[in-house]
Amino acid sequence: MTPNVRPLVAGNWKMNGTRDSLDQIKAISEGVKGDLSEKVESLICPPATLLYVATALCEDSPLWIGAQDCHQNASGAHTGEISADMIADCFGTHVIVGHSERRTDHAETDHLVRAKAIAANAAELTAIICIGETADERKSGQTLDILKRQLAGSVPDDANAENTVIAYEPVWAIGTGLTPTSENVAEAHAFMRAELTRRFGDEGAKMRILYGGSVKPSNAKELMSVDNVDGALIGGASLKASDFLAIYNAYSEILA
Ligand code: 13P
Repeated sequence: MTPNVRPLVAGNWKMNGTRDSLDQIKAISEGVKGDLSEKVESLICPPATLLYVATALCEDSPLWIGAQDCHQNASGAHTGEISADMIADCFGTHVIVGHSERRTDHAETDHLVRAKAIAANAAELTAIICIGETADERKSGQTLDILKRQLAGSVPDDANAENTVIAYEPVWAIGTGLTPTSENVAEAHAFMRAELTRRFGDEGAKMRILYGGSVKPSNAKELMSVDNVDGALIGGASLKASDFLAIYNAYSEILA
């Protein structure tokens, strides 16, 4: 945790979810209505096909709905793409950019991720910028160098604590059931905090840094209690309302 920073518990549904899954979003939107929502924010990023219906379902809930990617341009001849304005038009509030699956599957570079974050901010969306090292990079001791390079390249110069969230997702921890030790997470997050504070001053000191990669109800409390961890970005375990809410509710113990 970071003092005076409101944590964010976010779910990334990836390419999962059809209309049947809206029941899970409804259950999550009801489950986050308690007092904890004054201290902890929550967000689900379903596939784009469900965005508009999902925001309508959550109208009277503190649960935010966001998207998983956006194009760097505002509009135009880009078949199959979705602009940040389109997400905002569906009442989405956040967009994930630079997820490692997009960096790998679509060869997205830091430069492109930064352009997407700028487009997101221009549409008044909060950009959730993902960074993280591969297994080989960790083994060869390059983790902090990679994080430094990705932060420098992917985060726009006018990023602030409102329009930007960083998500540290070690690539080797995504969908594998493997997680770094608390010490490893603490080291990475302290390093990112120092980099952000050096570059953005007070805004960097309070910019949220989420941890992502095999977060589940059984490890959420430990991971989210680490210094400078300001929430989680959850893949698989966010698909089931009961698991997502168990992770979110871990904050009632952490903040007690
Ligand atoms: P898992 O929680 O399934 O490991 O996925 C993490 C992730 O990639 C979230 O963006």
